Amino acid sequence: MNIFVTGGAGFIGSHTVLQLLREGHDVAVLDNLCNSSEESLKRVKELSGKEAKLYVGDILDRELLDRICDENDFDCCIHFAGLKAVGESVEKPWEYYNNNITGTLNLLDSLRKHNMKNFIFSSSATVYGDPAMIPITEECPKGQCTNPYGWTKSMIEQILMDMAKADKEWNIVILRYFNPIGADPSGRIGENPKGIPNNLMPYVTQVAVGKLERLGVFGDDYDTPDGTGVRDYIHVSDLADGHIKALKKIKEKAGLCIYNLGTGNGVSVLELVRSFEKANGITIPYDIKPRRAGDIAMCYADASKAKRELGWEAKHDIVDMCRDSWNWQSNNPNGYDR
Ligand code: NAD
Ligand code: WQD
Repeated sequence: MNIFVTGGAGFIGSHTVLQLLREGHDVAVLDNLCNSSEESLKRVKELSGKEAKLYVGDILDRELLDRICDENDFDCCIHFAGLKAVGESVEKPWEYYNNNITGTLNLLDSLRKHNMKNFIFSSSATVYGDPAMIPITEECPKGQCTNPYGWTKSMIEQILMDMAKADKEWNIVILRYFNPIGADPSGRIGENPKGIPNNLMPYVTQVAVGKLERLGVFGDDYDTPDGTGVRDYIHVSDLADGHIKALKKIKEKAGLCIYNLGTGNGVSVLELVRSFEKANGITIPYDIKPRRAGDIAMCYADASKAKRELGWEAKHDIVDMCRDSWNWQSNNPNGYDR
């Protein structure tokens, strides 16, 4: 298939582009590189022996979107492009709503004008808010998001549902990712956060590499087995594979479908730290800190729907994730910056 990938230079995008190319698909990427680097796609080329076409530009640029759709005959669009820093979204709500929502509306409009109505969207477990059930099935009602970033995902899902209802030609797969970590086992591509990481795994790997001194564990008094927050960490390569499997659903012309992409296993902060230490033989010094505003105690998936309907399930365990995250960070202490 010929796939249009927005945000394809980013963390999850680059791993998915690699897998798409390896599976024999053609790929065109649109990315404004605001949170990524062309270097990721150069390395994808080195790993796959194939090249994705790159358009450096913005999903807010309607003329560019139309030009890209004119120049290519796409079979599906996988839409990763978006801003994703939770804390920053609280500081800059307009920028987040504009980039993520206006950008997505522009993209959808250009696609439908070109009669291209196959769409895969990167959503997030954040749409469940403080989840009404654990493990979380897709039937779990969406909840109150604690930040504008989360609301952009929730609102875009609603837009997609309304559009699919109004026009039956749309085939849409909404993928709700849990907590993506890890990196391609080659150690050539991985997550490249700007500044001090907000997320747990990149913080841990930066402590391990000596860029940060100690991990702060945000709260040890949650109602969880060891008191620290429990999440469903998923290897980014498994996540990438989920997109390949979702293409099959698109081909079935199934209308709108929603899937959780998680492992189904809950792992606490301290369990992750211990797994990292064991997998890599490195000690991670940490201090217990107060809870972080907006955090929930527990979040993990029931991922059986994706297994049943897409034939997808996560293959990597937490040890693989810790090993591959460290392999990437230790080989690229400054990410893609030289
Ligand atoms: P990322 O920041 O590495 O990738 C996003 C890419 O989109 C970047 O390359 C960025 O430069 C690009 N981009 C942003 N705004 C753009 C615009 N206006 N025009 C063109 N390109 C633009 O993030 P990621 O972790 O790879 O996330 C990919 C998608 O998955 C995002 O939509 C994110 O919200 C979603 N998601 C991520 C997580 C996570 O924890 N990483 C969890 C759930 C959902
Ligand atoms: C995981 C656990 C923290 C950092 C976020 C977004 C979510 C989704 C994935 C995009 C929690 C604890 C963290 C640290 C810590 N992104 N922690 N010390 O908050 O589950 O989800 O990323 O859609 O929308 O909210 O992930 O990695 O930040 O935190 O103790 O320095 O680690 O309290 O329990 P989170 P995270």
